[in-house]
Amino acid sequence: MKQVKKGLEGVVALDTQISFIDGVHGILKYRGIEIEKLADLSYDAVSYLLIYGMIPDAEGLNEFSRELRKERKVHPHLLNMLNFCDFENESLDALRTAISVCAHFDEDSHDISEQANFRKTIRLIARFPTMVAAFYRMANGLEVISPDPSLSHGANFLYMLRGSRPTELEAEAMEKDFILSAEHELNPSTFALRITASTLSDLHSAIISGLCTLKGPLHGGARKGVMDMLDDIGSPDNIAAYVQEHLEHKKRIMGFGHRVYKTYDPRARIYRDIARKVAMEKGNSHWFDLAREIESVMYHEMVENKHKPIYPNVDFYSGVLYKDLEIPSYLATSIFAIGRISGWIAHCLEQYGDNRVIRPRAHFV
Ligand code: SDX
Repeated sequence: MKQVKKGLEGVVALDTQISFIDGVHGILKYRGIEIEKLADLSYDAVSYLLIYGMIPDAEGLNEFSRELRKERKVHPHLLNMLNFCDFENESLDALRTAISVCAHFDEDSHDISEQANFRKTIRLIARFPTMVAAFYRMANGLEVISPDPSLSHGANFLYMLRGSRPTELEAEAMEKDFILSAEHELNPSTFALRITASTLSDLHSAIISGLCTLKGPLHGGARKGVMDMLDDIGSPDNIAAYVQEHLEHKKRIMGFGHRVYKTYDPRARIYRDIARKVAMEKGNSHWFDLAREIESVMYHEMVENKHKPIYPNVDFYSGVLYKDLEIPSYLATSIFAIGRISGWIAHCLEQYGDNRVIRPRAHFV
């Protein structure tokens, strides 16, 4: 029996054509294209790339976007169900329940044929934002806003959330957020989803496996953790004590560190730039400046204590961006899932396409 690798660290579990990560040099590519180039496209185009394996031409993209925008509305029964759920503002639980209800009303839900999966793909990508926004509006006693087919994925989400049109920069920031959150190789939620798909369970069930895994504070839940940390720290004077106390007691600082990246997460750099622009547009860079100072104190603390420096990951500056977009922290992980859904679907289809049940061994002690 081979030696156990705790947390499967460094274990290569499967081949994929969907994304590539170089953790030493901080490189991320979706289907062979650098994330820095993809961040300037639309979320529709990047979702198409992840799922179908190529950047669509103008006509293909228009057709795909048209299909998505037609499917943004959700079943009225789903809204009623969300209205009854008292999730104490835990939106990921609401989203998980909403996907289960969606499966119930989806005549394709048990059909894992390619045609049925492509139909479900459109419906799932199109409706995640509508469900999250509707949950937020109802949880706060506000009127639910219907989707606007004239708006991009990112702009429409902010419109349904706030009831007013976002600025161009806010819409651009939301698109970038969904693109940067869309895919990341065999991260915990994607791996959980592939295990579910490998038993030939259906797409909705695989997505729910992914959602439940993303929720954890060491994974997608860290985005909420970053936002709550920024509130806890509040001002630059409190940073040093907060960081020292956490490091001394081996408590994790949210938004830092990564299993694969041993340098700056390339996504964090792009988030940092767009978060700076949004803060400037707001005329208030309090959260952005606080984050920059936290990053600097973290780096110096680690170096001074002869620790290997740990760097910001995808959740650090995205948490800052959400603060400046006035998004409440309890929505953070659900919004991460709005982006991640296209990567999850790509992996589910890839698993179906060349399947063998994923079943590792355990070493009995
Ligand atoms: C995501 O895998 C993916 O791709 C995930 C993701 C994606 O796109 O899907 O990138 C999204 O989940 C990003 C990570 C979000 N999580 C957080 O921000 C939570 C805080 N981060 C840590 O929990 C941690 O860094 C992990 C979970 C991300 C990685 O954990 P590892 O690889 O198991 O590393 P580890 O816990 O073994 O830590 C190694 C060392 C330890 O020190 P020593 O015991 O060796 O002395 O680094 C230290 C840790 O104490 N460390 C931290 C730290 N992260 C690691 N110390 C303080 N704060 C941190 N955040």
